Amino acid sequence: MNDIAIDELGELDALVELKKLAREIVRHDIAYHQNDAPRITDAEYDALRRRNDAIENKFPKLIQADSPNKRVGAPIASGFGKVTHARPMLSLGNAFTDDDVVEFFTRVRRFLNLPADAPVDVVAEPKIDGLSVSLRYIDGKLVTAATRGDGTTGENITDNMKTLPALPQVLVADNVPQILEVRGEVYMAKADFAALNTRQETAGAKLFANPRNAAAGSLRQLDTAVTASRPLSLFVYAMGEVSGPVGESQWDFFENLKSWGFQVNPQTRLCSTAEQALAHYRHIGEQRASLEYDIDGMVYKVNRFDLQERLGFVSRAPRWATAHKYPAEKAQTILNAIDIQVGRTGVLTPVARLEPVTVGGVVVSNATLHNEDEISRLDARVGDHVVVQRAGDVIPQIVEVLKEKRKPGAEAFIYPKVCPICASPVVREEGEVARRCSGGLICPAQAVERLKHFVSRNAFDIEGLGGKHVENFWQDGLIKTPADIFRIPEKRQQIEGREGWGDKSLENLFEALDARRKIDLPRFIFALGIPQVGQATGRLLAKQYGTFDAWSKAMDKAQDRDSDSYQDLINIDGIGTSMANDILIFFADTNNREILTDLNELLEVQEFIAPDEKFSPVAGKTVVFTGTLETLGRSEAKAKAEALGAKVAGSVSKKTDIVIAGPGAGSKLKKAEDLGLRVMTEQQWIDFIQ
Ligand code: IVH
Repeated sequence: MNDIAIDELGELDALVELKKLAREIVRHDIAYHQNDAPRITDAEYDALRRRNDAIENKFPKLIQADSPNKRVGAPIASGFGKVTHARPMLSLGNAFTDDDVVEFFTRVRRFLNLPADAPVDVVAEPKIDGLSVSLRYIDGKLVTAATRGDGTTGENITDNMKTLPALPQVLVADNVPQILEVRGEVYMAKADFAALNTRQETAGAKLFANPRNAAAGSLRQLDTAVTASRPLSLFVYAMGEVSGPVGESQWDFFENLKSWGFQVNPQTRLCSTAEQALAHYRHIGEQRASLEYDIDGMVYKVNRFDLQERLGFVSRAPRWATAHKYPAEKAQTILNAIDIQVGRTGVLTPVARLEPVTVGGVVVSNATLHNEDEISRLDARVGDHVVVQRAGDVIPQIVEVLKEKRKPGAEAFIYPKVCPICASPVVREEGEVARRCSGGLICPAQAVERLKHFVSRNAFDIEGLGGKHVENFWQDGLIKTPADIFRIPEKRQQIEGREGWGDKSLENLFEALDARRKIDLPRFIFALGIPQVGQATGRLLAKQYGTFDAWSKAMDKAQDRDSDSYQDLINIDGIGTSMANDILIFFADTNNREILTDLNELLEVQEFIAPDEKFSPVAGKTVVFTGTLETLGRSEAKAKAEALGAKVAGSVSKKTDIVIAGPGAGSKLKKAEDLGLRVMTEQQWIDFIQ
């Protein structure tokens, strides 16, 4: 190292060097801590840290937000704040065929009144399959980084973005506009994704389905230290609000971005005809599997900014750009086996076990076969050569069976008639594609899956008790029912000394259990794992009945389908007859009744009090919206009413308190008038709740 002596270092040099050191150190941190592959010796690493500290000591006011001494920062206290984008973040129109691309060029020429054979310069660049972000700089300093969100409002992820080595936090150049918004894509390289998943597996943590999910999961972490530990990269490609010129063209802009320290995709080319653009598309398409990152298309953007301005936008997409998609990536492999998994509600799901194969840089060894019908449609047989596909977010799928390669004697898959786990008969209800094991809690698979659900994150969320622990405890007979989970402390002697269960972790688990003995009603309802009853329904039920006792009594009465209680249940907006049926079947089961009684003794299920209710004129009132709502959308109106503690019902009955009728209201309004209920216009309602 021929570093300038600290004493002779000027302020600007110091700033540049601090930035460089921060990036270098984080790269080595990742190589060392995450990839277990240090690239320099410990002594060299220490020297970098010492140099960084010496410069920081001399120039304390230059200490950067991404200083290696700050990098592993404190967790953010709560969720992410909202950021309204100064310019909306748009989407792109799509082109799928060569003709679509030719048509894009033609449209651009026609709009600009250019001759049919006039060249139009476009920049062609890979479309990265990641998450788009907007980075706002003021006076060259990064002030906000936000996710795309709905295009208008995103989440503030500034602290997390600051942990990315590829993100410059200070732009040192005299041509940086005072306000500069740069947009780009955060992604995870395929190799980094594979290494991360290996680490996750070793740690017994959740595996990510693909690099995009891994990038998204890593960026949306409330604990910045977690994001810092994940290998995220960034390419930039567009601008939002800018207060001054950033070049005359897309190409100029990219040159500027590079000189300011951003990463611009090196596979970007300037093309002046559709033929040239298509040639680049094919060229990149051939290398797609060997690129370091996932791409799902090429983006073509008219190069000149003055032309972009004239072309403008159609709805939410620019007329001056389009995305030329690549087909989903596919590969051939062999179907080694078809396993049947039994889920929490007894649904049987066939899973294809594949000879591991690389599909677009990601190793695939399992694929979903969805259900019985899908297996017959494909006529998939064990031993077959199959084509697997992986695209964006979806779980890998088998899209084709190569029947010409089938070995003689391959037998059609026979869907089990009895549960492969508990041998109970398998049933397929009319109109359903799924087959279910009828064993209920007798079925070990269902019992275990239900227990896992019970402790899962959105349910009881018991820290230190993961799915694997539950499985092990269940196998050893330590827990059978949800209530047994809260009796684990009584089994201390049987657990002590097992692998992974030292004194400290047991104490922690007992504490975590105690912390959950008080539970709110929506979580409790969700945790029960009633088919079709998710978190949202858990909330609806909690809101309707308020306490576990009231709910339970009402469900007993509602077993009589002619009762008022049954009417009340299906009257809850969002609960239909099929869901009501599943809830009532759950309550009718003696096994479940025992579980509920048991839990009720061990736990304190808290009364549900809807937020905002104290000052609300409509708390506890049942309201019905009908007709067109002109100011509030239907879902906004409903959400607002619920936030104020009202119950929103789908139909009018004598229990309805208020009917809000917009134009076009028909039978519901008539019934309300017949019953002499209070009827309001939308505006009256808005005034009323305000
Ligand atoms: S340009 C106004 N360029 O694709 C144009 N987008 O379908 C804004 N994306 O939300 C987008 N790579 O997340 C552009 N090189 C690229 C891109 C790219 C990936 C994503 C981006 C955008 C989506 C649009």
